[in-house]
Amino acid sequence: MSRLIVISNRVSAPTADQPGAQGGLAVALTAALREADGIWFGWSGETGETVAPKFETYDGVTSATIDLPEQDVEEYYDGYANRTLWPLFHYRLGLTEFERDFQGGYERVNRLFGEFIGPHILPDDLIWVHDYHMIPLGWVLRQRGLTNRLGFFLHIPWPPTRLLTALPDHRRLVEALFAYDVIGFQTQEWLETFHDYVVTQMGGSIHDDGSITVGGRTICAIACPIGIDAREFIAGASSPQAVATHRRMIESSIGRSLIVGVDRLDYSKGLEERFNGYQRYLETRPEARAVVYLLQIAPPSRASVQSYQDIRAQLDALSGRINGAFADIDWVPLRYVNHGYPRDVLAGVYRAARIGLVTPLRDGMNLVAKEYVAAQDPENPGVLILSRFAGAATQLDQALLVNPYSPDDIADAIERALAMSREERLARWKPMFANICNEDVNWWREQFTARLGGA
Ligand code: G6P
Repeated sequence: MSRLIVISNRVSAPTADQPGAQGGLAVALTAALREADGIWFGWSGETGETVAPKFETYDGVTSATIDLPEQDVEEYYDGYANRTLWPLFHYRLGLTEFERDFQGGYERVNRLFGEFIGPHILPDDLIWVHDYHMIPLGWVLRQRGLTNRLGFFLHIPWPPTRLLTALPDHRRLVEALFAYDVIGFQTQEWLETFHDYVVTQMGGSIHDDGSITVGGRTICAIACPIGIDAREFIAGASSPQAVATHRRMIESSIGRSLIVGVDRLDYSKGLEERFNGYQRYLETRPEARAVVYLLQIAPPSRASVQSYQDIRAQLDALSGRINGAFADIDWVPLRYVNHGYPRDVLAGVYRAARIGLVTPLRDGMNLVAKEYVAAQDPENPGVLILSRFAGAATQLDQALLVNPYSPDDIADAIERALAMSREERLARWKPMFANICNEDVNWWREQFTARLGGA
């Protein structure tokens, strides 16, 4: 059996310092790494001189991390990854910064990764690289003479060709992808936009079996939506912590319907638009005031990047305005919380919520939507309101799908969800729940690694 080497910017394998599972991806990859005696390699999250990787084996899983110099963090992570590629790939050209230094830092760090992981790769290993931070890594490894099977999975959307060509080095970036043998996207839509680029910009051809040929090299590109660790999450939803949280939420709701949103504080999540939609609901349905409330949990993210500081300030102001305008002496319409919670606590919150409000402007997948569905009471489930621009909408099409840019659409969906009969809620929830259980994170990993292994 080949070993598996996972490479990503962040490493979320369990360690002695952080022994708990850290999200669905970590659970899935950790299980695979344990089975295949693999290594998860990435940035430690610390700044410092890059020396040999720090290896740590915990609970049968080996992780290896390196520190990065401050300038690299600024140019590669804050810069090219989060000020160039992230906004561009989320269709936000206006927020995208094009700095040659960022590109230089990005390529430098990818070379550094290659240099430090290269010597630990054995000829038979399968290599699986993750996300937009590491696009050129496959190319770097090939330059070092590696002939292993190389796979890449993009967790975020692939942008339309006309947006991508605004990136000065777009060709170089996409050409580097052709060093991989298998490329995975979250949805058919992103796969098709990738095909469009390949055909119109590179003169490539797409074959019936999904393979792609460009300049004599043929690789495979697939759509393979990521799931959650459904079994673990469902079990977590009946853990003592989840049950206690559920009770706490019910008690503090005093009969009011809870609408919940949980997102990293990121402009792609459409939080401003969501607040505006909720405000429209309150404005136009005075009878609904004091009988609902919105709990928005939004832990800050990438705080050294200006656009993230801006969105945080805007949301502080907007949440204050909404509460100032609508609150009553015994009712706060919006509870806005800027820190994260453990997964079992979130499961209890989701279960208590009559509505899960998930309205990103653009999102590769969105696992909160899946977790909300997984946490529901099978006898009396709540309603998922989901942006049609989230990758998850292709699988969860029984949700109330909305245009997240439209405050009226959001307001109407809230009204409809609150009035929805139990029969309709059940009829919508059941197929979504089945999808989440069938196409879970292990299914995703197996689909991808089967292709990577040459199936
Ligand atoms: C998205 C990306 C991940 C990233 C995560 C958190 O889900 O696809 O690659 O790890 O956001 O962002 P951060 O910048 O904190 O790693």
